[in-house]
Amino acid sequence: MAKVKTTFFCQNCGAQYAKWQGQCNACKAWNTIAEEVIQKPEKSDWKIPTSSAKRVSKPLKINEIDLSKDARLNTLDSEFNRVLGGGIVLGSLTLLGGEPGIGKSTLLLQVSLKLPYKVLYVSGEESQKQIKMRAERINPNNNNCYILTETKTQNIFKQIEVLEPEIVVIDSIQTLHSDYIDSSSGSISQIKECTTELIKFAKETSIPVILIGHITKDGNIAGPKILEHMVDTVLQFEGDRNHVFRILRANKNRFGSTNELGIYEMQGSGLREVSNPSEILISKKDEELSGNAIAATLEGMRPLMIEVQALVSTAVYGTPQRSATGFNAKRLNMLLAVLEKRAGFRLGAKDVFLNITGGITVDDPAIDLAVIAAILSSNEDVAIQQDFCFAAEVGLSGEIRPVQRVEQRILEAEKLGFSAIFVSKHNKISLKSTSIKIQLISKIEDLVEFIV
Ligand code: TYD
Ligand code: MG
Repeated sequence: MAKVKTTFFCQNCGAQYAKWQGQCNACKAWNTIAEEVIQKPEKSDWKIPTSSAKRVSKPLKINEIDLSKDARLNTLDSEFNRVLGGGIVLGSLTLLGGEPGIGKSTLLLQVSLKLPYKVLYVSGEESQKQIKMRAERINPNNNNCYILTETKTQNIFKQIEVLEPEIVVIDSIQTLHSDYIDSSSGSISQIKECTTELIKFAKETSIPVILIGHITKDGNIAGPKILEHMVDTVLQFEGDRNHVFRILRANKNRFGSTNELGIYEMQGSGLREVSNPSEILISKKDEELSGNAIAATLEGMRPLMIEVQALVSTAVYGTPQRSATGFNAKRLNMLLAVLEKRAGFRLGAKDVFLNITGGITVDDPAIDLAVIAAILSSNEDVAIQQDFCFAAEVGLSGEIRPVQRVEQRILEAEKLGFSAIFVSKHNKISLKSTSIKIQLISKIEDLVEFIV
């Protein structure tokens, strides 16, 4: 009997070892090395589907390569296009990660149903009937999308050869299984082998492949880190499951920027693209309430108006509580210290709660000024005018610092009907004749004059 061939893989980073050891040399994690059965046949008879392989071209000089013909497939979903940098690049491998139940399958099925191309949607997780039921909710009239329930890569390639799709979606990479490796689906060696086969397929036929990847408890895509290095684009689908908003961002993109953000709203009939997020992120109120301030932030190239809410109250327990949702708690503590030391507000004995509405997380430093304004407003119990907004960073000495692309923020605020925007005096602004008042300030005291 032939000896069973096994190798040891670190389940954290995917490093390979000949024998077991306690700690992984590559990522230094303990107890992550596990044995996996691998068995390569003598001669690999797997080949790229020939009919589609015909499209493979001979070597070309770089200036002979024609980019004018559809280098990208337009998905007809403007948020998805934006995050990808303008559409799906031919021959690219995209990995979409996200927590279970966040809507990865829904998003890709929806994109598949909208695509004006022949799509093969391969699912290893749901039956054809289940997918049909989901499709009924989203977009029941489609003639271009084929559903295949299969987990063996060799069978998938066989079907691709017959069908000749223009794009392939795989739900999910962890359910795939290749005959050339003996270990079970979802193991490091299987994921690696299946991804390699798919990359070979995508590059040789220029058919783009989108993979869904599961996420582990600590937020990493399950499987080797190498998976992220192997693919061209890594997208992350995230959001608070209690909120209806879902955010799509690119963690890695060989063909575009990683700053872009796509926003969706989960509805009964699938995901709705949110093209003007500012309108929903700002809650509508009949009366002015203290503790609310609006920040003019930027996510990628897109301006976003975000509402910051603060609640400052006398601490009932000895140690005051500080808590922040959607904002870095350390940064909140820093801003509170600045307020205490530089502007003389006694916040040391108060509880401070901060919330960014809409369940989104912001890391644009331009939100600082709105955070300070919301805290001051709640502390003094004076409402800030609803049509004021803020865009500036706050430094350790209480100085108001300039932020990048301030003019774009001002124009967005103007478009949304704000009457004044507070920015740093040190921002260079060459805008002329705006209907919005640009309030230049240089320290926290200047802000206090206006709002308290
Ligand atoms: P799903 O795409 O199955 O998540 P994932 O593939 O990331 O695990 O998303 C399932 C959730 O989305 C589920 O809780 C139901 C909800 N949903 C809607 O609210 N509306 C819809 O139209 C669909 C299809 C799903
Ligand atoms: Mg799913």
